[in-house]
Amino acid sequence: MADVNPAAIGARAEQMINTLGSVSAEPNRLLRTFLSPAHRGAANLVTKWMVDAGLTVSEDALGTVRGTLAGSGAKRLLIGSHIDTVVEAGMFDGPFGVVAGILAADHFAKAGRPLPFGIDVLAFGDEEGVRYSATLASSSACAGHFDFSTLELVDADGVSLAEAITRYGNNPVDIPAAAYAPGIAAAYVEVHIEQGPVLEYRNQPLGVVNSIAGQTYLNVEFLGEAGHAGTVPMLLRRDALAGAAETILTAERMARDTKGEVVGTVGHINVPAAASNVIAGNVALTVDIRSGSDTARNAFVDGFKKEVREMADRRHLGLSITTTRNVPTTPCDISIQDGLAAAVKAVGGEPLKLSSGAGHDGTAMAKLCPIGMLFVRCRGGISHNPAEYASPDDMGLAVAALIHFIEGFEP
Ligand code: GLV
Ligand code: MN
Ligand code: MN
Repeated sequence: MADVNPAAIGARAEQMINTLGSVSAEPNRLLRTFLSPAHRGAANLVTKWMVDAGLTVSEDALGTVRGTLAGSGAKRLLIGSHIDTVVEAGMFDGPFGVVAGILAADHFAKAGRPLPFGIDVLAFGDEEGVRYSATLASSSACAGHFDFSTLELVDADGVSLAEAITRYGNNPVDIPAAAYAPGIAAAYVEVHIEQGPVLEYRNQPLGVVNSIAGQTYLNVEFLGEAGHAGTVPMLLRRDALAGAAETILTAERMARDTKGEVVGTVGHINVPAAASNVIAGNVALTVDIRSGSDTARNAFVDGFKKEVREMADRRHLGLSITTTRNVPTTPCDISIQDGLAAAVKAVGGEPLKLSSGAGHDGTAMAKLCPIGMLFVRCRGGISHNPAEYASPDDMGLAVAALIHFIEGFEP
């Protein structure tokens, strides 16, 4: 690794992150949803960077940009992350993994000596699930596990996923071609900001992920009776919003009671006919439940549903609970963890192992091949927030570690 200069690579990474961070659907905040014009802008930029790095670039039906560096053998090491964002996002969640992959591939392209395996850098477009409730569509397609029923899902404007793919310039008929042929993908590795405070607290720039938490997403809908805020006595109301409020607090209380084993979040609530002088007749909300333990998560979900049902009966509310996502905990491959730990040591770090509470494309890619993740310290552990930040020095070390990992990788 004598010719790797982490400080110079980190400065390049920061420049690329800032450039990508300016590609947004809105002028005053970062928003790039799956298959939107902003996604197209980001994909074009990533394509240009890949071409400049000497990679052969293609795009699949789900918009995943794939930059290939050929090796002497047929197997490929896949390195990727996502370029879609949450609403009012930070610039690092996702894009840094793509940038890290491009910078590492650039290093090997410049070295001019083929590796014994190829490298594919993948820029996925559907990790955050902001536009469509089924997330990880793009990485699932690469893994050969795309759920074709999700083509009928519609976004907030009524545009189906199939139509969005067409408007983006691709064809849903080509989705099967996005899948890797069995045996070609040797492993999938993702570099990502930690999105939590552990590395900063432990004063370490890098960490090795041992698992990605399992997730359950519920859509909870209450049906009460709309009424006049001034005339209906309190005891005669069937207030759907009051039921929703109790549900939010139930999720919080139950998760707190697990003492860190499970986290539960209501991040979205919809009151379709909201007005200050109307008792809400209909309210829908989402519940995001995660844990590193599938047993604990499943027990939580059962207990939570039971409490919400009892509460809805007590309030005489109609209730429907739909599970929109149910993903088990994804373990990271032990030999990839070992390889990444050796790489972290090689760049002067202490290879802390930590689990990821955030979801990642690795969950989908694990259906294709062994996966691993390298985490990078982020300031204050802040993510899904415009204040998200990783230093150029830490990003440079992460890319240097990734290069070291690739040098030692045996497919
Ligand atoms: C994505 O960032 C998620 O963990 O929800
Ligand atoms: Mn992410
Ligand atoms: Mn995210």
